Amino acid sequence: MKLENKTIVLTGGSSGVGLDLLRALGASNTVINLSRRAPSQVAAQSAPDFVHIATDLADQESVTAAIEAIAKRFPDGIDGLINCAAIQFLPQFTDPDFDSSSIATEIAINLTSPVRLIHGLLHSLRQRPGSFILNVNSGLGLVPKSESAVYCATKAGLDNFSCGLRAQLAGTGTMVGQAFLPLVDTPMTTGRGSGKLPSHDVAQRIIRGIERGDRDNDIGKVKLLRMINRLSPSLANRIMQKGES
Ligand SMILES: NC(=O)c1ccc[n+]([C@@H]2O[C@H](COP(=O)([O-])OP(=O)(O)OC[C@H]3O[C@@H](n4cnc5c(N)ncnc54)[C@H](OP(=O)(O)O)[C@@H]3O)[C@@H](O)[C@H]2O)c1
Repeated sequence: MKLENKTIVLTGGSSGVGLDLLRALGASNTVINLSRRAPSQVAAQSAPDFVHIATDLADQESVTAAIEAIAKRFPDGIDGLINCAAIQFLPQFTDPDFDSSSIATEIAINLTSPVRLIHGLLHSLRQRPGSFILNVNSGLGLVPKSESAVYCATKAGLDNFSCGLRAQLAGTGTMVGQAFLPLVDTPMTTGRGSGKLPSHDVAQRIIRGIERGDRDNDIGKVKLLRMINRLSPSLANRIMQKGES
């Protein structure tokens, strides 16, 4: 399937990988972006038909309002939903100043909101033949690192949910895919890590994966990580505890 002349809902189009997805997809598709900030002027210029719905994905009322606005504005349905927005809190449970309210926020944005959006937009997706759901995941959803344990758990949950949902939607004409990213150079990883992939390159690989109909699109080092994890989960764990991701 070529991603052209489609109507696609994207979360997190104001920054990082989402911003590059918006730039790449916006030239030939109608992209509906959900984030708190509006994407930059540059992105808006490269995406003539783009629509921004200011949404706080940590707030379920805001998510419900976005779902209703999309159904109203696009009564003939949508072709795709890309759940890209996420946050990663770095403080650890052992830090004396760990803020326990961050737990609910991280789970709401990274796991609850994609699930809510999929449920709320499923009717719109099923109105279009060959529609797709793409959840942006991470190598950390396969094997966790010691920092950001809640983030890793949300990504593992998203993986498990995506597999179950794929089985539920089998035969409906709506495909469920995931893209598993390695370390990418975005505001999320500012000041840490090395060997990061450029986010515009990752955005292109995500798009190609959707067009190929990949179920799990392992990008960069994630391919190797998944293979090692299959052969030796303890080795994969040791690698992730040592590495930066
Ligand atoms: N960067 C990496 O190394 C890496 C590695 C593996 C996987 N990933 C995944 O790739 C995806 C994109 O990450 P990124 O690195 O591009 O992150 P980023 O540059 O930090 O962008 C995060 C996006 O999420 C949105 N967001 C955050 N909180 C929100 C909220 N409460 N409501 C609505 N939107 C919210 C932000 O928009 P607003 O602030 O405008 O709301 C922003 O557009 C994520 O799913 C991440 O888990 C990234």
